[in-house]
Amino acid sequence: MSMATDSATSGLHLVGKLLDPVSRPDPYPVYAEFRALGPVWVEEISALVVTGYRDCETLLRDPRLSSERWRHFDAARDADPFPPDAPSSVRQPWFLSMDAPDHTRLRRLVSSAFTARTVARMEPYVTRLVDDLLDQACEQDTFDVVSGLAYTLPMTVICHLLGVPTADERLFHGWSAQLTRQLDGFSAPGDGEEELWAGGMVELHRYINELVGDRRRSPRRDDLISELLAARDGGDVLSHDELVSTLVLLLVAGHETTVNLIANGVLALLRHPGHLAALRDGQAKTSPVGQGGGRVTASAVVEEVLRHDPPVQLTARVAREDLRVGDAQAPAGALVILLLAAAHRDPEANADPDRFDPARAQVRHLGFSAGPHFCLGAPLARLEGRVALDAFARRVREPRLVADPPPYREHINLRGVSELRVAHGGGGR
Ligand code: HEM
Repeated sequence: MSMATDSATSGLHLVGKLLDPVSRPDPYPVYAEFRALGPVWVEEISALVVTGYRDCETLLRDPRLSSERWRHFDAARDADPFPPDAPSSVRQPWFLSMDAPDHTRLRRLVSSAFTARTVARMEPYVTRLVDDLLDQACEQDTFDVVSGLAYTLPMTVICHLLGVPTADERLFHGWSAQLTRQLDGFSAPGDGEEELWAGGMVELHRYINELVGDRRRSPRRDDLISELLAARDGGDVLSHDELVSTLVLLLVAGHETTVNLIANGVLALLRHPGHLAALRDGQAKTSPVGQGGGRVTASAVVEEVLRHDPPVQLTARVAREDLRVGDAQAPAGALVILLLAAAHRDPEANADPDRFDPARAQVRHLGFSAGPHFCLGAPLARLEGRVALDAFARRVREPRLVADPPPYREHINLRGVSELRVAHGGGGR
């Protein structure tokens, strides 16, 4: 058996292991096996799987890779998944899935409305919200961190930011969950998931179309939809469909990622009581890794969670031309899967990488990607994560995990717990 067949066989075997729900609580041993193979072409899924930190970082900036996966999906599809009366915006790809120059143009327009200042202004609102949520949660002897804090916070914040009426928030829960499956990275047309996804997509687009129509008629509200309606870059503006598709992207991206940052953060702190205590007491804690270590701040915990147990485990691209990465080759049109969560534990990027250590001297991660698609919501996600973890550590007394490992959702990419039940001894302000 040749080397190539060997690694292809084990590549497929590892893909199978990763897809197996048994791996969901701890996929990291599987990632380590992938890393040991190096970049690997997996013929059966026509994908190149990349796990080295330097390779992932370089490829995220490589213009030979395309984010326009839908072009290939559309070509492979037998039938249009959307009903004839679906709003035209469902066919407008969001800019996460576009390449330059279209991506550059849309991202610039959206960035002009969704700025770091917009986010910084939200801190008092986020702080109040977290305090209220923890007040409610701590009234019970045990509470679920996901429904009580980790999910509700980003959902409420993104709806507030966009100007979605609070009464409609719960509608998004179902739609967003349906769309998330599509983002999972391993799904392909014809696997039966698509109808579910298309249905959720159409309903969400109908809703946002109405909301935008509403704002056009009365545009003075101080919300992001109104700002995006007014956004200009020179003479350029967002078309109606571009605006709707951008709002759908912000809603989904804001919902399904930050929940895992907060839940994974609480889980890590509960598994490492020393770090939890250091965060609560604001003590300096010396790291066994790196030079001298630093304080355990909520910001440092956020960065370490993004590295150690990232909310977005992978991203994917399509090779525009034949591609060689290390000893592996992929033909033009192939999928390139960048296992970010595996790259974060590459010992060449981070010392003692399996160790959760928010006091490490340097944290290198691609949790928000790198290059042109670097997460536009990173400042908001960092703000929400910092405020939530800080308040949890300070306020919830003697917190204990009710189940370890907790139950996980089925997603591979936007991987996270479905419930994180915590027992505690009270929660003062
Ligand atoms: C912890 C929370 C979050 C994580 C881990 C995360 C992660 C990511 C990653 C990895 C990408 C790039 C994917 C790629 O390169 O293919 C991305 C893109 C993006 N994210 Fe986030 N995200 C988070 C929260 C948010 C929030 C709260 C928002 C908005 C409210 C947001 C909006 C976006 C947008 C608009 C893009 C597309 C950027 C582009 O294509 O230029 N994200 N995010």
